[in-house]
Amino acid sequence: MTVRKIITVPDEVLRRKAREVKIFDDNLRTLIDDMVETMRDAPGVGLAAPQIGVLEQVVVIEFAEAKENEENEEDEAPPPKLYVVVNPEIARMSSEKVMGVEGCLSVPGIVGDVERSTSIVVKGKNRNGQKIKLKLNGWVARIFQHEIDHLTGVLFTDLAESIWQPEEDYVDNV
Ligand code: NI
Repeated sequence: MTVRKIITVPDEVLRRKAREVKIFDDNLRTLIDDMVETMRDAPGVGLAAPQIGVLEQVVVIEFAEAKENEENEEDEAPPPKLYVVVNPEIARMSSEKVMGVEGCLSVPGIVGDVERSTSIVVKGKNRNGQKIKLKLNGWVARIFQHEIDHLTGVLFTDLAESIWQPEEDYVDNV
């Protein structure tokens, strides 16, 4: 596995549309493995292929959903879950939305408030070309919406209601 260079603004590759993946071969699986490695190295909780200059519809996300209303702070954090989705599309999104702070590995140094659906259904394929369907809530639903936007050249700064420079890195970048 190889850590690839993450492309940042204003590189116009971030603004282009990614192609649908039609061939599920070892090249695709190498791309996926490299994306996971690159995301972990950054570190980030999500990465879309255009962020490493590959205009194909692939996203990887690795995130540990914190429990809400934790009664015992001594509880260990849940293990992070790795998602790999090829040709992802949002099949359903809740009309209920929530504001949250996002940062992006391709837009370093700034964060912004973005309104996203609280729950979504994502359809796509796994690394072997088999159909998958994910029902997602909370922060991971937000990350998926951010990554899928990358596949059509949309950045969180296009959607943010306010943008600022944080004094320290307190947001997981995606
Ligand atoms: Ni991003």
